[in-house]
This record gives sequence, structure tokens and C-alpha cells, in this order.
Amino acid sequence: MLESLTSLVQLKSVEWNRVERKLATCGDVGDVRKLARRQLPGGVFDYIDGGAEDEISLERNSSAFRDAVLHPNVLRDVSTIDTSTNVLGVARPTPIVLAPTGFTRIAHPDGELAVARAAAAYGMPYGLSTLGTRSIEELADVATAPLWFQVYVWKDRGLVREMIERSAAAGYEAIIVTIDTAVLGRRERDVRRGFTLPPKIGLDTFVDGALHPRWSLDLFRHEPITFSNVAGMSGIDGGTAITLSDYVNDQFDQALSWESLDWMIEAARNVGLKVVLKGIQRVDDAERAVAQGVDAIALSNHGGRQIDGTPAPVQMLTGVRDAVGSGIQVICDGGIRRGSDVVKAIALGADAVMLGRPYLYGLGAGGQRGVSWVLDHIVSGMRRTMALCGRATVGELTPDLVTQQLWRSPPLQR
Ligand code: GLV
Repeated sequence: MLESLTSLVQLKSVEWNRVERKLATCGDVGDVRKLARRQLPGGVFDYIDGGAEDEISLERNSSAFRDAVLHPNVLRDVSTIDTSTNVLGVARPTPIVLAPTGFTRIAHPDGELAVARAAAAYGMPYGLSTLGTRSIEELADVATAPLWFQVYVWKDRGLVREMIERSAAAGYEAIIVTIDTAVLGRRERDVRRGFTLPPKIGLDTFVDGALHPRWSLDLFRHEPITFSNVAGMSGIDGGTAITLSDYVNDQFDQALSWESLDWMIEAARNVGLKVVLKGIQRVDDAERAVAQGVDAIALSNHGGRQIDGTPAPVQMLTGVRDAVGSGIQVICDGGIRRGSDVVKAIALGADAVMLGRPYLYGLGAGGQRGVSWVLDHIVSGMRRTMALCGRATVGELTPDLVTQQLWRSPPLQR
């Protein structure tokens, strides 16, 4: 009797590591997001999770992927799946790039270092943000991941040039010039919460912090969170609580134009860096960027965090690719939550995709281990989707694989 019972019931071994135990209950990025939501104070979670105004672009970024339809082939040899491809002139194991995200250490004290370590295991390029919380050099010291540096255009061009030169000296491959942030989008979740960076301790944040003791302890146990690359240089010492919108509106160059882009390209080329132009949302701007001589364009609406009501980048891919041809790399970001989303974007004409929030959810849920969980989920999903579509290589991900609906408005999120 006992013997037949034990043949039916196998005792599960106990997982003692808290993070592993929680990640083992996750099936998708949505579950990791929920874990991060429980782990992080509301203001911090909303800063990461939220978008601008009615969050229409934010939601459309994901719904555009959900609405894109796959048309799989059968009976093709998929015994070997190869996700490798060329991104920015270098052979990479996957077409996935980790997007720059601001103030990463609010999600976890290891911040960018944890993300870069996880990225390295997958050979994924990682873009450090100018508003990052680890310096260009600190990250280069620990990272074996290929690094790109994201540059906002400060009014103080000397500061911009210095950061470009520091990235080249530290071995970065490229700069990502983000051009959709002349002023900061109105992120109304942050407005409602009075969210500042670093978080200001008022009664509400105190209560929120007490409800998230692990996060609060981490905050107090580690060195202060600062904009490591610009602290002390540009109107912020890292200790003063500011709203991001005040900072951006004060420091960033609203006069930035196509003419001044030449200056950026030249500054990068002089020190051997490639240039990715991020924030293109129209075919004519994509054409202009190509004419101006950048190495890649990133179709992006900044994760729905800047102007609201724009198309999802994946909906722009076909038009942009038709207009610019195959001579320039096109990166698509916004709304990628699964490996099947990567497959759809590549099939529709992207050379690579960039993702931000998914790894931040992983970071908030479980530090480096959480980021690795998310990357593994997306890469294995990509492999599985390719196998189930009968496409064994990235080169076989061609436009006939996907049909998509353009511009549908998602329901208003509240
Ligand atoms: C920074 O880039 C942000 O979107 O908050």
C-alpha cells in the first residue's frame, strides 16, 4: 500500500531561498510584475509601471503585440533553433537589448550592476541611462555585458561631451541619443503621489515604507541613491528631493534640433562610438535620421511615458522599414513581454528589440535573479515560438509570419 502510494506521490523538495520560492510561482512577466508590486512602495512601483496621461500609448504598446496574429508553418525541420543575429555590427546570441531606465536603484540596491550581470549571461547589450544610479565607470568595471550609454541632451554641451568621452574610455560600444524628452511627459500617477527622486519622506511615504520594510531597510543600509553620472555637475547633488519633471524641464535642451544632432554624431564618432537615435515615431523622421547618418534608429514612444496617444512602435515597423530599406538597423521598443513578441517584431522588420519594464519588474521582485528569470522567460519563449512557427533562424522571421491591426485604441485604464 505504502509502496503504491509513494510511486504516485513524490515529495517536493523545499526551496529555502525566498526569491527562488517566489519566482517558482511565476508563469509570466505579469506574475513577476505582481511580485514587484508587493515588494515595492506604491510610489516606486508606479514610477516604474506608469505612463503619461491616460496611458493610452502604454497600453497600446502591449495590445498591439497581443493583436498581431502569427501564421505558423508546419513540417519544417526545427530540431536546431538559432536566435543569433547581428545587432549594431556585432554577432549577438539574441536580438534583445536591455533599454536604459532611470533611477534603477529604487527597484533594488544593486540597481544597474544586477541588470548588467544578468544581461552578460545572455550576451545582451545593456544601455545605461544618463539618469542611471551607477556611474559609467562603475558599471564598466563589473560588466561583461556589451554596454551602450544613453544620452539625454543637456543644455550644458560640455557635460554631454564629457559623458560621451567617458563612455568611450570605459569601453562602451555606442551611445543612444534619446530625442523624445524635450520636456517630461505628464505621468499622472507620479503627480498624484507627489513622487520625487530620491523619494521624499512624508507621512504617506513613511507609511508606505513601513509596509515595505525590506525595501526601506535596503534604502537605509546602502549608500544614497544619486544620478551617479551627473551628480554635483548639473544642478543636483542627489540628496535634494526633486520632481523629475522639474529637473528635466530645467536641464534638458528644448532647442535641440536636427542641426544639433550633427554635433552629437560627430562627438560620438570622434571617440569611436556608434550612434542609436531613440524616440522616432514617424516615417519622415526615420528617413531624416538615416540621411543624417546614424547607425541605428529606435522606434520608441518611451514606453508610453512621454507623449500619450501615439502608435505602438511595432505598428510603425512595416512603414518605416519600407521607407528606409535594409541599409540601416531598426530597433523596436515598447510592450515586449514575451518571446513571441520578439518574434513578431523581428518578422515585421526590426533588427532588434529593446525592453525596459520587464527587467525592472524582475529587479524589484528579486534583484539579479529576478532579472535573469525574466530574460530566460523571454529567450526561451522566443525559441519555442520559432519552433512552433517552423522558423529555425532569425533570417526566417519574415513579414509573411505576422498580420497586424493598426491604431486600435485600447480601453481607458484606471
Ligand atoms: C526616464 O527616462 C523616465 O522615463 O522616467
